[in-house]
Amino acid sequence: MTDRQALIAGNWKMNGLTAAALAEAKALAEKLAANPHKAQVAICPPAILLAPLAASLSGSGILLGGQDCHAKASGAHTGDIAAEQLKDAGAACVIVGHSERRADHGETDAIVRAKAEAAHRAGLIAIVCLGETLAQRDGGETLKVVASQLRGSLPDDANAANTVIAYEPVWAIGTGRTPTLEQVAEVHALIRRELRARFDDGAGFRILYGGSVKPDNAAQLMAVADVDGALVGGASLKAGDFWPIIAAKG
Ligand code: PGA
Repeated sequence: MTDRQALIAGNWKMNGLTAAALAEAKALAEKLAANPHKAQVAICPPAILLAPLAASLSGSGILLGGQDCHAKASGAHTGDIAAEQLKDAGAACVIVGHSERRADHGETDAIVRAKAEAAHRAGLIAIVCLGETLAQRDGGETLKVVASQLRGSLPDDANAANTVIAYEPVWAIGTGRTPTLEQVAEVHALIRRELRARFDDGAGFRILYGGSVKPDNAAQLMAVADVDGALVGGASLKAGDFWPIIAAKG
């Protein structure tokens, strides 16, 4: 299928104070307004910045997303944020199952699946992250691990409109290392096969690559078959780095 619109999403992680974040977002919005581009663009800032960014980016076409959500819609969960609250603050999507959440907060596939369901319940697109560790890659377990994460993390109500997959090898995140294009192609093909086998519209899901995507490698990575865009961490923090990645998709 060639009609999947690319998505390039910036994951700001725990970075950004209001004034600087608004300035970078404005600079990005100006770049996008001045230059034709094919990809859909999203920024996933710290949740506390969603509302001010939503106000300043209104009409820009840039989607906003959360970086995590709780599975429940409300309740006694100190420090957590419901998908409904992200939506209320202006989010259109939410990242779930990022490897940093899986590692730092013990999130299992079952928890990630419940969070993806919560995203759907709230009307958000769930960006579901998967990826192997270096030990799993070196042990030849990558395809097995990614297939198992995919099966366990995707709820049955997932479809091409409400769910995006992000393949992010843990060892490529924030390290400057990336898999070879052949390795990326192999994993994305596996994910596509699994999606087709399980979902009627499995051919339509967008599958992003993430992990050390930079202006100088973005075009190559996103030209790989079944790579429908990118999830970008460090290089999404500055409009001057993020824009060339978006432009790399045409
Ligand atoms: P990175 O992060 O681009 O800084 O490697 C990607 C991610 O964690 O989503």
